Amino acid sequence: MEIIIQPTPEAASLLAARHLAQLIREKPNAVLGLATGHTPLALYRELIRLHREDGLDFSRVTTFNLDEYVGLPPAHPASYHAFMQEHLFAHVNVSPSRIHLPDGLATDIPASCRAYEEAIRAAGGIDLQLLGIGGDGHIGFNEPSSSLASRTRIKTITERTRRDNAYAFATPDAMPHHVLTMGVGTIMDARQVLLLAFGAKKADAIAAALEGPITAMNPASILQMHPVAKYLLDEPAAAKLTRLDYYRWVYDGKPDWQKV
Ligand code: PGA
Repeated sequence: MEIIIQPTPEAASLLAARHLAQLIREKPNAVLGLATGHTPLALYRELIRLHREDGLDFSRVTTFNLDEYVGLPPAHPASYHAFMQEHLFAHVNVSPSRIHLPDGLATDIPASCRAYEEAIRAAGGIDLQLLGIGGDGHIGFNEPSSSLASRTRIKTITERTRRDNAYAFATPDAMPHHVLTMGVGTIMDARQVLLLAFGAKKADAIAAALEGPITAMNPASILQMHPVAKYLLDEPAAAKLTRLDYYRWVYDGKPDWQKV
């Protein structure tokens, strides 16, 4: 685990953007696993800036998003299709044919989820999976009690996550109860994972995920088993880690070439 603590979400997001940009420059046909929510917004803004000002080229990049609400058409303003268009895709030169999100309108949901897994395999697998974390330790929409070996499938959102995400909907009742999400096993197959967490609301989940036991009660904890897992945290999100000084010391002592 590489635990990197930055003074602000903006500083962490700039580092994350630089890391993604480096991957895209080294591997122009990189396959990126992308996330939605508040957490990656500053990272996406910086990727857009790098595209506009530094020519960061997304033309051969393939993307797979973690999740989508069941029953929302792509044009619905709270859908993750719409979120990704608004915050990234409309502003960079990614090819629409290389963009993938789960199909919230699928009539045969199990078949659609199998096809999503197959599309990831056919693309060569995900090079880097970007993740946020829920206050309950969820990654994607893999809520506590999710199988740590799960694949893309339908899940029921917890009441807590419904409250956390209600801001995107006109009324809380307008929010679907179900989502399609990559499974924990799908996420674990990515060659590299980059988890971002900002704010005091994430501190308990981060402490449990990084320093607690591996448990389906905190699905992010399985990332302890991932060979290339990087965590970019701001100070409040890192505040409940017991080995904070050690993590800082490790990162500060790294040679520049090894730093994110
Ligand atoms: P947030 O959501 O980025 O809006 O905090 C993260 C998540 O629920 O995974």
